Amino acid sequence: MKLELKGVTKLYGETAALHEVDLTVPAGVRVLGLIGPSGGGKSTLLRLAGGLEVPDAGTITVGGDVLARDEATLTEHRRRNGFLFQSFNLFPHYTALENVMLPLRVVQGKSPAEAREAAEQCLRRFGLEKHLLQRPAELSGGQQQRAALARAIAARPRLLILDEPTSALDPEMTAEVLEVIEELCRDGQEIVLSTHEMGFARAVADHVVFLAEGRVVEEGKQIFEAAAHEQVQRFLSRVMKY
Ligand SMILES: Nc1ncnc2c1ncn2[C@@H]1O[C@H](COP(=O)(O)OP(=O)(O)O)[C@@H](O)[C@H]1O
Ligand SMILES: [Mg+2]
Repeated sequence: MKLELKGVTKLYGETAALHEVDLTVPAGVRVLGLIGPSGGGKSTLLRLAGGLEVPDAGTITVGGDVLARDEATLTEHRRRNGFLFQSFNLFPHYTALENVMLPLRVVQGKSPAEAREAAEQCLRRFGLEKHLLQRPAELSGGQQQRAALARAIAARPRLLILDEPTSALDPEMTAEVLEVIEELCRDGQEIVLSTHEMGFARAVADHVVFLAEGRVVEEGKQIFEAAAHEQVQRFLSRVMKY
């Protein structure tokens, strides 16, 4: 993936969610993992990379192009990405099938038949063929999150942006969702994800970035064996202990 941040600052009132962040994702990286303590700026970075928000200072380059700030460019950029957030954001009054079809119809302008075909294919891929007509409340957490993933990839996004996709799930459902994400990685999908599943980040990410207090503290997968910064060592030894 081609993703670069230069001097990116994002403010929420007095808080700098990101503070002059410089980040160049090394060439050849397909899966980028963001890790670090809560409040460190992971979600903010994902929202900025996806064009859901604009920085207060600095530039973001995606796919070689500097992301412009006008609404038309941002809308176009958002359409090219797929998103999944920590809590399931399916529409409760639509079935799984309708939830996946909706963006294909509205955003991609596909015909009902085309949208249905593509949506069914995505849901089948994630083992939800028996649940097409169920509403979110009739699905388990893991099934809901797999349906949300099906929706995120249905339009074949250039970049899939996953913000703590398993944080609201119990261990068995976490495993279920991680398997699906792993399959997408193997398939060559470009993914930026934030996670507190360190084992998973280590297994699937080609590159990891440790964010704390709005800054990149350290990056690279060697941090799992030998982090240079004490803050990173402390964090990892604490979260990987149990
Ligand atoms: N919409 C918002 N309004 C106000 N403050 C926010 C908002 N989003 C994030 N923040 C603040 O920015 C900082 C970084 O948050 P976030 O990017 O959500 O971190 P993480 O995802 O690593 O937990 C935190 O201090 C958080 O409280
Ligand atoms: Mg977050």
